Amino acid sequence: MVVLMVCGDDGYGECLVNGFNGYCRPELPYALALSTVEGYSGYGAEESNMELRKAIDKTFYKDNTHITCDQIFVSDGSQMLLGPEIYVDSSVIMGRAGEFEEKTSKYKNIVYMNCAPENNFFPDLSKVPRTDVIFFCNPNNPTGHTASRPQLVDFARKNGSILICDSAYATYISDDSPRSLFEIPGAKEVAIEVSPFSKFAGFTGVCLGWTVVPKELSYADGFPIIQDYHRVVCTSFCGASNIAQVGGLACLSPEGFKVTLLFSFLFLNLKCALS
Ligand SMILES: Cc1ncc(COP(=O)(O)O)c(C=O)c1O
Repeated sequence: MVVLMVCGDDGYGECLVNGFNGYCRPELPYALALSTVEGYSGYGAEESNMELRKAIDKTFYKDNTHITCDQIFVSDGSQMLLGPEIYVDSSVIMGRAGEFEEKTSKYKNIVYMNCAPENNFFPDLSKVPRTDVIFFCNPNNPTGHTASRPQLVDFARKNGSILICDSAYATYISDDSPRSLFEIPGAKEVAIEVSPFSKFAGFTGVCLGWTVVPKELSYADGFPIIQDYHRVVCTSFCGASNIAQVGGLACLSPEGFKVTLLFSFLFLNLKCALS
């Protein structure tokens, strides 16, 4: 099979596939190749297909945050790349969350930040002790509430904590709140952002997501965390499935993203109908 493609800035280009000359979407040559015996492959680079990293960067980060595609790591879902040491459920299984306390129904080494209607779904940080890692899901699941995050960034900086923000529902934000944590000044020095394709593209079960580790994020001695992260990912992970990645590329093509955003509008309409 012969695939030749010349791509324009808009992601569209001229495509020649086995003599068929047409105007096509950027994911098509990859998809067509994967559908053949000779062209099929399971995994590629551990960090993922560069076209997909570029598409994620262009869609979510480039203009507003200046994050570059080499700081984006694609994985089979949003949580895998954080590894068992960090993701909360896995930490509980591995005993890192400490003993379960029957009386409070909480784990000893986890600090729970109360986000409820009485505090407008944002924790009172003056009562939250220091932790190594702070997880925050924004917009919130299941309320959809979008919190203001500069205070969390300042809090993480002051405490020397790493803030991990789950932005799975970012495309559902309809006001002028930042879509990415990295739009907030100083966030790149303290935060990691994760997002699955599950919510905005309806990819639940397909298993595709990404993690942004800014090059400015470092340990207390100044060593960049991205270097360790890259090492761990390329050692312990085989890469996201190529089929899933081509699907992700299709969702982020100019045409695909219009359909993808439709999901968000449907969700917003549902929210209005229920309120
Ligand atoms: C807020 C949030 N983040 C991440 C995930 C995980 O998505 P995935 O299974 O695609 O990694 C979920 C799944 O329900 C979620 O609700």
